Amino acid sequence: MKERLSKDLQEIKQKGNYRSVRFIKPLTATKILYNFKEHLNLCSNSYLSLHVHPYLVDAARKALDVYGTGTCSSRSVSGSIDLYGELEREIASYKGYKDALIFSNGYMANIGIISTLTDRGDTIFSDELNHSSLIHSMRLSRAKKVIYRHRDVDDLEKRIKSDKGKGKKFIVTESIFSMDGDIAPLNDIYKLKKIYDVNVVLDDAHGTGVFGAKGTGVEESFGLAGSMDVHMATFGKALGSFGAFVLADRVVLDYLINRAKTFMYTTALPASLLATSLAALKLVRNDTSFKNELWANIAYMRENLKNAGFDLKESDGPIIPIVVGEDSRTVKMQEMLLGKGLFLQAIRPPTVPEGTSRLRLTVVRGFTRDEMDYAVQTLIQVGKTMGLI
Ligand SMILES: Cc1ncc(COP(=O)(O)O)c(C=O)c1O
Repeated sequence: MKERLSKDLQEIKQKGNYRSVRFIKPLTATKILYNFKEHLNLCSNSYLSLHVHPYLVDAARKALDVYGTGTCSSRSVSGSIDLYGELEREIASYKGYKDALIFSNGYMANIGIISTLTDRGDTIFSDELNHSSLIHSMRLSRAKKVIYRHRDVDDLEKRIKSDKGKGKKFIVTESIFSMDGDIAPLNDIYKLKKIYDVNVVLDDAHGTGVFGAKGTGVEESFGLAGSMDVHMATFGKALGSFGAFVLADRVVLDYLINRAKTFMYTTALPASLLATSLAALKLVRNDTSFKNELWANIAYMRENLKNAGFDLKESDGPIIPIVVGEDSRTVKMQEMLLGKGLFLQAIRPPTVPEGTSRLRLTVVRGFTRDEMDYAVQTLIQVGKTMGLI
């Protein structure tokens, strides 16, 4: 076995696609220590910079005092502590849904949702750029899979119309795509749902806390809060905590409690994380300035990068893809930026399609003007050297 693995790894290395983990230590909300040197973190998903907010840290500490460190069993056995109920009520009402069910993380929630709610005879229509967890979940499903072109509603409708399946139909999409930063056409998808009686499964992992006047997510910005059949999002990005939740009618959630293996057979989240998520919700529900400050930074970064000639594709919001193309060129650019104190990752296949390797830059609320100016100037300098602008 080891020989085969080494050979495969060698091939991955030759393609410039080898991954290794980099050890870092946070210094501030936006700065990290990497390789004994201070770097600006340009790839955090903590969009609201809440993961170091004293209110959240204090909530976690207090919960540790009361509940101890771990739950040490699954939710169905003895891990469903009272904070779960409180958090499920809070997140459902924040997002405009009646009920919620918390999972240990977004990957497991997605695996649970699609593999459990779909069956033989059903058809799943999936955006070609959906997140790995959604794809993985579909592979576990017995339903037929149909891939439609990225954000292309005409292609989606054509495929729905020509589907001969007799079972239920499901559209699966991210709301804001995690690697491209562009937004799914939710208004059109909602129309198709109504016309063809299709269930929509929406992943709002990167939209929650960021989009909409109240910041509840991408659905809200389309005036569609609470209207999808199954809505999944996470506490581990803008909300600065950890864990995930599924929003749907009670019968769907009860079915997941009874059938989703990734809910049933895993240790429940510790109380400190549930308390952290509750604290985050309390903050953002009462104060839209967190979200507004983030959007001011997004506007500043986007304007400066665009003016410098970077092609930001169709992205909108805090995720900015800088597509370089070849894997090895992308890694080279990443290394140059690291050398200048900017920490961000080269995103390569299979995370993104072949030939579209990129640097995925994220904007967070905690950036200062000086930090953003430094980031933009450095990106311009390196982008010119690489012939990107
Ligand atoms: C779109 C999307 N869905 C789901 C997940 C998985 O969420 P989690 O990190 O909580 O497992 C991620 C990334 O983490 C994501 O980007």
